[in-house]
Amino acid sequence: MWGGRFSARPSDIMQAINASIGFDQKLAAEDIAGSKAHATMLAKQGILSDADRDAILSGLDAILAEIEAGEFPFSEELEDIHLNVEARLKDRIGEAGGRLHTGRSRNDQVATDFRLWTRKSLDLFDHLLTDLMTALLDQAEAHADTIMPGFTHLQSAQPVTFGHHMLAYLEMFARDRSRMRDCRVRMNESPLGAAALAGTPYPIDRDMTAEALGFDRPMANSLDAVSARDFALEALAAASICATHLSRLAEEIVIWTSAQFRFIALSDAFTTGSSIMPQKRNPDAAELVRAKVGRIMGSLTALMIVMKGLPLAYSKDMQEDKEPVFEAFESLELALRAMAGMVRDMAPNEARLAEAAGAGFSTATDIADWLVMHLNKPFRDAHHVTGRIVALAEEKGLTLDGLALSDMQAVEPGITDEIFSVLSPLASATSRMSYGGTAPDRVREQVKRWRSQLT
Ligand code: ARG
Repeated sequence: MWGGRFSARPSDIMQAINASIGFDQKLAAEDIAGSKAHATMLAKQGILSDADRDAILSGLDAILAEIEAGEFPFSEELEDIHLNVEARLKDRIGEAGGRLHTGRSRNDQVATDFRLWTRKSLDLFDHLLTDLMTALLDQAEAHADTIMPGFTHLQSAQPVTFGHHMLAYLEMFARDRSRMRDCRVRMNESPLGAAALAGTPYPIDRDMTAEALGFDRPMANSLDAVSARDFALEALAAASICATHLSRLAEEIVIWTSAQFRFIALSDAFTTGSSIMPQKRNPDAAELVRAKVGRIMGSLTALMIVMKGLPLAYSKDMQEDKEPVFEAFESLELALRAMAGMVRDMAPNEARLAEAAGAGFSTATDIADWLVMHLNKPFRDAHHVTGRIVALAEEKGLTLDGLALSDMQAVEPGITDEIFSVLSPLASATSRMSYGGTAPDRVREQVKRWRSQLT
């Protein structure tokens, strides 16, 4: 392609380190869409004849069909997807093929292709996140009344509802979706027509190609257009944050399915057995979702480091932008699909959750609150009195609602048998009616709000 100045072919190792066709063939559809928009614009501007344009457009369509059919002869010698497609076009249509590259460069071409590909992926994540949110919402609705233990420090804290717990994740994934949408808005500008770095002397129409490719506008600075990869970094950052949310839920699923917890069960569809221990049912999918965050965040770090310190405009370093994004997005897609599947599959064990909800003196705060509300004690004093009641229960090997009234009165004479009404986990959760609280009615309100937004 640059034969004029060169007389010898590159060394094998030069070719091996330089070629990106092994991975950037993923951009084939975007590359062809970009070329079609460019050729159509060149003809409209009188830079290309209508006959050449028509030959180019049908040649590109034929090449796309070849690629989709797996019949395209990809060549490492031709370095990347752009040169592979262009060379093939020349083979097919002759001289007209050589006119396609007028007024553009691979630098604006690759930036355009990669933006289109990333944008498509963000749209897929939007869809997959909506699906996961719907799965969580369905579980939240079915279990608005299911009482379970709430933890801090993974120690018994206060009873909550299973539906509330599901909605907590729904909120996180909603923010992830919103981050993806924000990122899409910012990245949706067209680099095409920036050419190598400085623009072009041809009377091109960048608004036209931007519109044809679904961009909101052309990028305003040609140097920036070919140099910017923050769109990819931002998408990777959004993906990384989303992956941390997935890994937290995955971790809970691993804990909850253990024989010691038994909070939920996963079916055969989302578990595997052991080749030696016949009793095993392992939550492999959850473990792998938990682990995928490593690759995804690693990709963000990798690209951050590639981009830092690069002088303007294009440097070949930037060819290293694609694999991290491809790898991270492939992992995120799998993780989102697996998580939606697991959330739909999970069967909460209501009896076990209720039993666990009362463990660890989880309604102690309710005693303290009762002392404040009924005996007008300052909360700090009530906290102290309750601590002594808990110590007494622990000493006697009893739960809080198993203590006799006389035991509690020995600590605080003002306590009456009304206190028993707040000691059950169900009463505890039901009383937490503050906005955003875990009370079943509050959960149902939020379910309703989300239902109207998600459908
Ligand atoms: N394969 C290259 C990349 O991915 C395309 C751009 C090459 N541009 C250049 N001036 N060598 O970045």
